Amino acid sequence: MIADEFALMELAGIIYDYCGIDYRKNLLSLKSKIKERLNVLGLSPWEYCGYLRMEPKEWDVLIELITVNETYFFREENILEEFRKAILPKYTECTPENPLRIWSAACSTGEEPYTIGMLVEDSGLFRPGTVKIIATDINKKALNKAKSGLYKKNSLSFRRTPDWAYSKFFVELGEDYRVKDSIIEMVDFRHVNLLDNDIINKIEKSDIVFCRNVLIYFDNNAIRKIVNAIYDILKPGGYLFLGHAETITGLHTGFEVIYTPSVYYYRKGGTRHAAVRCTSG
Ligand SMILES: C[S@@+](CC[C@H](N)C(=O)[O-])C[C@H]1O[C@@H](n2cnc3c(N)ncnc32)[C@H](O)[C@@H]1O
Repeated sequence: MIADEFALMELAGIIYDYCGIDYRKNLLSLKSKIKERLNVLGLSPWEYCGYLRMEPKEWDVLIELITVNETYFFREENILEEFRKAILPKYTECTPENPLRIWSAACSTGEEPYTIGMLVEDSGLFRPGTVKIIATDINKKALNKAKSGLYKKNSLSFRRTPDWAYSKFFVELGEDYRVKDSIIEMVDFRHVNLLDNDIINKIEKSDIVFCRNVLIYFDNNAIRKIVNAIYDILKPGGYLFLGHAETITGLHTGFEVIYTPSVYYYRKGGTRHAAVRCTSG
């Protein structure tokens, strides 16, 4: 039992170093998440640590087991309202050559970036091709579902979808709703680990970043690293939205905080190249 705990601690450390998800104080939860996989492989937790080092592809399986992918369309309405009413109108002069670039940094199964696309289209402020959404996640299975644009009609993905959005942005396909092509075409899904040292070379300079409901799984060191990377990827004057339960206040990240009566979010200092024009990546 003690040996098992020691091995689980080792595994939790390897996971933390790889992707920032912190199971080091939650070994029982880690144990239950990997139990079946260890049975299938016939390995002890200790042997599994070695297996991960020998078989890098195993990370994809492990990531599926240890990430929490809960998400839904139109999540956290107050933040979306602020994005739509206060932020989008600042970028209306973007062009296909210099598009508005929005990064959904932990997009899970796609509901967040598609919601962003729906709000962009619904605003009526942008011509086709002038807004590009990059959506990234570490979980490849979640990304594959996201790319399909298919969601079960009776699933929790729709728990906060307003009535007006169904006919406007979804097509019925048997038991599923499929996101309309005009929205799917706005989104470029990519496999990215937010803790990757090379992240700055994988994501284009962006105007707005949504990094919601993922920092809660990290400790302050990992949060600082990710938020610093986001800071570098944001263009001067760009905006960062976190989830309701998340804050980076006190981490000395260089962002200024914008408070409204219903939400707070972050802005990178400096002004954009021209008051209303987006700069190219
Ligand atoms: C709870 S979901 C949040 C989805 C969406 N942002 C939302 O607010 O609805 C958290 C996502 O973060 C992803 N994630 C966790 N660690 C990550 C990392 N190191 N790099 C990229 N994505 C990560 C998980 O795979 C999961 O899909």
